[in-house]
Amino acid sequence: MNGYRVVRFLVAGLMLLVVSACGETPIDVKALKSQPKKYVGSDTCKMCHLEHYDSWKMTLHSRMMQDAQKNRDVIVTELDPAHIRADLEKIKDKLKIPVDKFYIPKVEDVKYTVGSQWKQRYLVEKDGNLIFAPIQYNLESHRWVNYNEDKWEKKLWFNDCGGCHATGVDLEKKTFVEPGVACEACHGKGSWHAALPKTEVFEKRATIINPAKLTMGAAVQICGSCHNRGKATKHKTAEWAVGYEPGKALEAYFKSTSFGAGDIKHLYANEFSMGHHQQYIDWSLSIHAKEGVTCTSCHYVHQIGVPPTRSQTLSAGSKQCLTCHVQVNNNQAHSIHSFANCIGCHMPKIATSAESGDIHSHVFVPLLPRDTLANPVIPNSCETCHKHKGQDLKKLQAAFDALTVLPKPVGSQVKVEMPPPAPKPAPKKVEAPKPAPEAPKAAAPAPATVAPEHPKAAPKEGEKK
Ligand code: HEC
Ligand code: HEC
Ligand code: HEC
Ligand code: HEC
Ligand code: HEC
Ligand code: HEC
Ligand code: HEC
Ligand code: HEC
Repeated sequence: MNGYRVVRFLVAGLMLLVVSACGETPIDVKALKSQPKKYVGSDTCKMCHLEHYDSWKMTLHSRMMQDAQKNRDVIVTELDPAHIRADLEKIKDKLKIPVDKFYIPKVEDVKYTVGSQWKQRYLVEKDGNLIFAPIQYNLESHRWVNYNEDKWEKKLWFNDCGGCHATGVDLEKKTFVEPGVACEACHGKGSWHAALPKTEVFEKRATIINPAKLTMGAAVQICGSCHNRGKATKHKTAEWAVGYEPGKALEAYFKSTSFGAGDIKHLYANEFSMGHHQQYIDWSLSIHAKEGVTCTSCHYVHQIGVPPTRSQTLSAGSKQCLTCHVQVNNNQAHSIHSFANCIGCHMPKIATSAESGDIHSHVFVPLLPRDTLANPVIPNSCETCHKHKGQDLKKLQAAFDALTVLPKPVGSQVKVEMPPPAPKPAPKKVEAPKPAPEAPKAAAPAPATVAPEHPKAAPKEGEKK
């Protein structure tokens, strides 16, 4: 990439500038700000924000796209043609071209790797374009599969993927500043901020985006610029938010996809995500979105001193839910099995990245067997675990109802004549001088002979505690 080299040169220049800024040389702030803001790259940020840099380096954002020319170890497996073709042979019925016609890149032809958690794909260069070789390695199932084998030479990384995997992508010039989701993908172009001397604290703060200081919507839309699926609004064909910068309103640059708009490949009929990188779409449907619980309420992006967790959650697994939901009633839906696995029911793995069901739903609403019974295409939370059991969904729903729906009171209602209200003796205030607010409720249970006026009210009693 020529562009990359040019940018490195620019970065080196800027580093000099910064070094002089750290010294006593005064800087002409006005002159600086008359220049357009530029990207400077994470290595520049690192000079003053080493701890942020270090923790970001441990996250997958920094490793999304890696230069395989610089370091071949970023390729997570061996590109062994015999092995790859043997794996493809196992799925040959699904392939659009014969196995022996597959292009398999040599290690030295791979420019960049993309991904390392669920799947890895390989970028090669052709006629000045970056394109994906037609093979994909799925990490957790350890197998090779096909990827766009019939049209791989026509799918252009810059147009289809670029802006979500690299930072500072220029679609027209076919350049980018840095592979991966780097500092400036979330903080915006940093040239002014980086060049200003440390003493100019307020100017420095004002010239960089701190998501924590934006409004909630603008902050979460930074994440939403990539954890999303749809089309650019400022470009005819691009599938990422061309022109968007952190702090801006995403809708002006990107239109999310939906089932309602006809995308039956990436969403279920209830608008839950079927495709991956759609967390923002899911989340937007949730009560959490309405209540201001955003991506960064649960995820960190760089957290000094915290060891990296899977999915970068602030607490591991379902503990994350309990940090806010300290009290959840242990009845109804929550009375079945151990119930501590909130994520198992509330974030079922119903979306796909590499293999079916490896990505969690972010609507946070459990899907029940009855949802699937009503529309067989819609999956449910229960079957992510209960798939081996005889598979009768009606039975599962019935079992669930039996456990979670409170039974109607049995027997017929008995009318009892109420005795005329006896003149009440003065209330005996034996202990507490002031009756606690709940005292009247506690006294509610009527004498055994009197049936409740509203049979429906009876079952509620237990749960209100
Ligand atoms: C020359 C040193 C230097 C460089 C280089 C630098 N920063 Fe800063 N940064 C600072 C200082 C100083 C502050 C102000 C700290 C404070 O608020 O007390 C700051 C603050 C910030 C803030 C918080 C702003 C706020 O309003 O709270 C962010 C975000 C930030 N920097 C990101 C970056 C990024 C991204 C880069 C690389 C593009 C970068 N910085 C490069 C020195 C630097
Ligand atoms: C994926 C998005 C993302 C990336 C990448 C990212 N940041 Fe941040 N950064 C944030 C968010 C979000 C906040 C606000 C944190 C919060 O809400 O508490 C933040 C806050 C900061 C702050 C303000 C002080 C603080 O800790 O709150 C600094 C400084 C900073 N980032 C520097 C960096 C540097 C340097 C890099 C690259 C090495 C970087 N960030 C990469 C999203 C990002
Ligand atoms: C420029 C695009 C971009 C932006 C902006 C972005 N992300 Fe990401 N994010 C990605 C990509 C691409 C991956 C996949 C990285 C990989 O697998 O190597 C990812 C991965 C993640 C993961 C999964 C990590 C794991 O271990 O599985 C979390 C969580 C995440 N991002 C949260 C956020 C949050 C929160 C924000 C906003 C503060 C944000 N991202 C902003 C592109 C982005
Ligand atoms: C709108 C932004 C966006 C676009 C466009 C996009 N991706 Fe991604 N991609 C992401 C995010 C965010 C993730 C991580 C979250 C997830 O997978 O749910 C991801 C994950 C991946 C992963 C898995 C990473 C891992 O560690 O397992 C691969 C591989 C990948 N994308 C390839 C592509 C390819 C190839 C294209 C273009 C054809 C593309 N993506 C287009 C945002 C995007
Ligand atoms: C209420 C908490 C919460 C919120 C809000 C939230 N997430 Fe998550 N996220 C989780 C949990 C929990 C996981 C799964 C953790 C695990 O693997 O055990 C997860 C997983 C992920 C993953 C990894 C892919 C997967 O499904 O395993 C990505 C990427 C991600 N979240 C991105 C986001 C983005 C982007 C937002 C905002 C639009 C967001 N999350 C909002 C809790 C949350
Ligand atoms: C940062 C705090 C926070 C975290 C973490 C969090 N929640 Fe929430 N959640 C809220 C708030 C606030 C509401 C809205 C108020 C309410 O209904 O309790 C809410 C509402 C909900 C609701 C809807 C309740 C209703 O009334 O219908 C569900 C379901 C839910 N959360 C599940 C989860 C799950 C599952 C997790 C873990 C993945 C989680 N939450 C993590 C704060 C949080
Ligand atoms: C067996 C599946 C299952 C598990 C496990 C589970 N839930 Fe639920 N949860 C449900 C169902 C079903 C509902 C009712 C949803 C509805 O009415 O749409 C619900 C409702 C909720 C609500 C809203 C109503 C209320 O009681 O406040 C919250 C909040 C909630 N769950 C949080 C959690 C948390 C936190 C955990 C983990 C400690 C958890 N759930 C574990 C299935 C489950
Ligand atoms: C995270 C995995 C998981 C999820 C999700 C899950 N289950 Fe289960 N379920 C189990 C396991 C394991 C058992 C057996 C051990 C136990 O009872 O804890 C079980 C037992 C049951 C039983 C028998 C319980 C009894 O006390 O006789 C019923 C009924 C049931 N599940 C229904 C459901 C329904 C309905 C859902 C969806 C709302 C669901 N489960 C979601 C794992 C799960």
